[in-house]
Amino acid sequence: MGQPAIEVDRLSRTFGTGSTRVDALAEVSFRVEEGTVVALLGPNGAGKTTITKILATLLLPSEGTARLFGHDVVHDTGGCRRLASVVFGGESGLYPQLSARDNLRFFGMLAGVGRREMRERVPALLAQVGLDAVADRRVESYSKGMKQRLHIAIGFLPRPRILLLDEPTVGLDPVEADRLRSAIGAARDDGVTVLLTSHYLLDVERLADRVLLLQHGAITEDLSLAEFARRAGYAAAVTVKGAGTAPQLPNPLPDGFALADEHRGNPDGWVVTLRIMDWDHRVFAHLATLFDDVDVEDVQVREVRLEEAFAQLTGDGG
Ligand SMILES: Nc1ncnc2c1ncn2[C@@H]1O[C@H](COP(=O)(O)OP(=O)(O)OP(=O)(O)O)[C@@H](O)[C@H]1O
Ligand SMILES: [Mg+2]
Repeated sequence: MGQPAIEVDRLSRTFGTGSTRVDALAEVSFRVEEGTVVALLGPNGAGKTTITKILATLLLPSEGTARLFGHDVVHDTGGCRRLASVVFGGESGLYPQLSARDNLRFFGMLAGVGRREMRERVPALLAQVGLDAVADRRVESYSKGMKQRLHIAIGFLPRPRILLLDEPTVGLDPVEADRLRSAIGAARDDGVTVLLTSHYLLDVERLADRVLLLQHGAITEDLSLAEFARRAGYAAAVTVKGAGTAPQLPNPLPDGFALADEHRGNPDGWVVTLRIMDWDHRVFAHLATLFDDVDVEDVQVREVRLEEAFAQLTGDGG
């Protein structure tokens, strides 16, 4: 394998001293290979934004190193800024008195985007994020989501090789959030490396190849997306609805099944939800036997929600 796009080695960051000291990051190490999308997940306050800011050369580490394609974020900020763009969720960091077009031009200039490219890409990006009609209005008059769209356009403008996205879909309407996910997917297909933080696990489900779980400033899991989903503890849930007499389920249930929920004796019928621990060739045979003598009206199969895996891994519920 070539040089990693992102290489973080025993990175620590503290804020404050004495009784107010916070260890935001404690010896965090990980690598991200070029062309992959890695989701950095963790509860509020885990240190995700701190890592993102250090990689974006906006914050200094207390100890340890971080490199983007070999460029050190402390000693070669210029090299790092040419490689990476950062998008934070939120309304700050723009020039409110300037229009969206002028904000884009300004940040593009700082990122070293040439004039000709700017003439081409600024209107294209404004159209892509749906701001072309309002591009010459002052940003102070924008809604939260419009500002977020502008942040995204600024992030994509210099054609970065690395995208650092910290809650990029915050404030976006569902259509725009989907459009952004497609744009991130297209960038990844072009070989762009993405480090993505999001509390919307749909972003992670759609985009991430790998999940890093950060808790209290330390990486506690490094999993493929499929492995992460499996940490929910089961593979799928089947909800069966019917009329008439409710099924008599055996106790214990067949291996690999668990009862999640049931409603019986309801005049409208009965509902039973079973968890399936693992898909295997016997699952359907067992289901057929369990519901053989009853009047089934509807069957729904639902995959594991990533929220359930997150809750299991962070010890928050489950
Ligand atoms: N400038 C600062 N001064 C003091 N403490 C800070 C500062 N910035 C971050 N922290 C602390 O560092 C820890 C990590 O914060 P960080 O913003 O990285 O968390 P996060 O994982 O991004 O959380 P969230 O999901 O809420 O965005 C928190 O305890 C936070 O209070
Ligand atoms: Mg954060």
